[in-house]
Amino acid sequence: MDELLTPQQRDLKARAREVAEKYIRPQAAELDREGRYPNEIMEKISEYGLMGVWVPKEYGGGGGGVFDLCLIVEELSKKCGGVGVTFAVNALGSFPILLGGNEEQKNTFLRDVATGKKYIAFCLSEKESGSDAGSLKTMAVRDGDHFIINGDKKWTTNANAAQLYTVFANSNPDKGMRGISAFLVEKGHPGFTIGKEEDKMGIRCVPVHETHFNNCRIPVSQMLGREGMGFMLAMATLDRARPGVAAQALGLAQGAFDLAIDYASKRRQFGSNLLGFQALQFMLADHATQIEAARQLVYTSARAVDMGLKNFSKLSAMGKLFASDVAMKVTTDAVQIFGGYGYCRDYPIEKYMRDAKITQIYEGTNQIQRLVIARTLIKELASKGEG
Ligand code: CAA
Repeated sequence: MDELLTPQQRDLKARAREVAEKYIRPQAAELDREGRYPNEIMEKISEYGLMGVWVPKEYGGGGGGVFDLCLIVEELSKKCGGVGVTFAVNALGSFPILLGGNEEQKNTFLRDVATGKKYIAFCLSEKESGSDAGSLKTMAVRDGDHFIINGDKKWTTNANAAQLYTVFANSNPDKGMRGISAFLVEKGHPGFTIGKEEDKMGIRCVPVHETHFNNCRIPVSQMLGREGMGFMLAMATLDRARPGVAAQALGLAQGAFDLAIDYASKRRQFGSNLLGFQALQFMLADHATQIEAARQLVYTSARAVDMGLKNFSKLSAMGKLFASDVAMKVTTDAVQIFGGYGYCRDYPIEKYMRDAKITQIYEGTNQIQRLVIARTLIKELASKGEG
């Protein structure tokens, strides 16, 4: 339904599609097999003017928003969900600067991300603090004009590849989650080390590591926003980043569907191609409908974020929940359509199913999305009662 997009959005999508066709598709299987960071592809993404589309022009970005980000992530993920997140995680990492950073921080750090000079990661989760993000144990103790950070982070997507890290640490534990502050830490800074790399089921080209802070002295000038604002910044960031995960799921679903319908049109059994069987036609009809429904919800949630509509947080959670469930269903059924071939790595389809699974887990499990949606519904009901 590209007809519903503006000429600028169609152009953006076309450029992303070209990168995906020319550079991602031929390499996707190899990147997955070798678990190799897609350096050359990320450079192409920058060359094609796609990096930092979500960053305002005054800081070197494309001046678009989350909707533009989603259009690109969808196209990249049609060919490789791993590359989709390698790109999108830079939005996740940089939203806290956009939301909480001062002019100086935006002019240096945000500009570097927008122009593709530096990549960024988001360090929130810890071994004992995943869904319950507010219970994180990493500490930041004030020492003059520095904070000393100590603690360990888990599942830092893009770690090692990234030169910048948005780190959440508690600087006032008596206040619980309201004591959490956000900091910018650069790779190589004394006391900051990259630890164990995770051996993942899917999205294998993007590195995910443990990250460690051992008496890591960070100047106060690298704190984002005010002290104690960190949890709010993390939540506001996730509200804006979840449509990107939803777009990754959408791209994976569409990519798997395109491969499955093509295969079904060629594979012959019982004297007919598979598309001749109504059981398959109905399955594909359901998939096409679910993908289109997901697309509408993802696009609407992204537009709602860009417009700052009331309760965009609810829409953003709905889009991520729905699109990732659709991606899991469609990619699993696509493997079924390919049958025995689908189960083997000679064909690209099983990778879609492996890549899709994470979209139901990261940036808030789908159980957390339901919690966000339900809490908003209850608040909406209460405010109606007050009215
Ligand atoms: N925007 C702004 N502020 C928010 C907010 C939002 N969306 N949601 C909550 N807050 C504020 C609340 O207003 C509240 O502050 P006040 O009391 O001052 O009003 C404070 O934050 C606490 O809110 P809650 O009581 O709702 O907090 P909670 O402990 O019940 O948790 C939660 C809320 C939604 C479950 C949250 O913990 C959450 O989102 N968990 C999931 C975390 C997550 O998505 N992690 C993924 C990390 S990124 C990743 O996956 C790895 C990667 O690199 C890709």
